[in-house]
Amino acid sequence: MEKIPKRSKVYDQYTKMCVTHLANLYALAIRLQGYHWNYTGPYFYSLHKLFEDRYKQIFKDIDRFAERIRTFGCYAPGSVYQMYKRSNATDRAQALDLNGMLEDLLTTCEIVRSHAQETLRLGVQLDDEVTVDMLTESIEKLDHSTYLISSSAPSKAVDMPESILQIVRTQEDMSDNGASTH
Ligand SMILES: [Fe+2]
Repeated sequence: MEKIPKRSKVYDQYTKMCVTHLANLYALAIRLQGYHWNYTGPYFYSLHKLFEDRYKQIFKDIDRFAERIRTFGCYAPGSVYQMYKRSNATDRAQALDLNGMLEDLLTTCEIVRSHAQETLRLGVQLDDEVTVDMLTESIEKLDHSTYLISSSAPSKAVDMPESILQIVRTQEDMSDNGASTH
């Protein structure tokens, strides 16, 4: 099979898609951080901690992904404005009630996942194994976030408050690096 040259339209498109994935992760992290700051209610500690654990994880992935993009020979977005322009997951207002927050996070995860999957498919065509592995890992983490966030839906929480406690325990077990809640 003929190799696709690195200086080609398809590579440019792929690079742009990778940058959008980076900006999407950033948008999701900021959204989680906003809800970490602004949620108040009966599950305050559980959700405050859950949102914090998720955005801290994503910020680590953002750094890895930005540095991967640098190896493509292009610059990573370096300002909030550039991130905003590059992301396709920034167009909704912040929700102020719990249902709205959870729904918004699930929708954002879905948008970010869908774009990551599309980027991954192109990465496979271009034999970019390293980025494909990183995108696969991103998708796995997005699925995990979706599972944790959807398990925190108020209807379940009201019926089964233990489910929220289990999420917190799992998160605490995973955070053996001393991450603190502010
Ligand atoms: Fe905090």
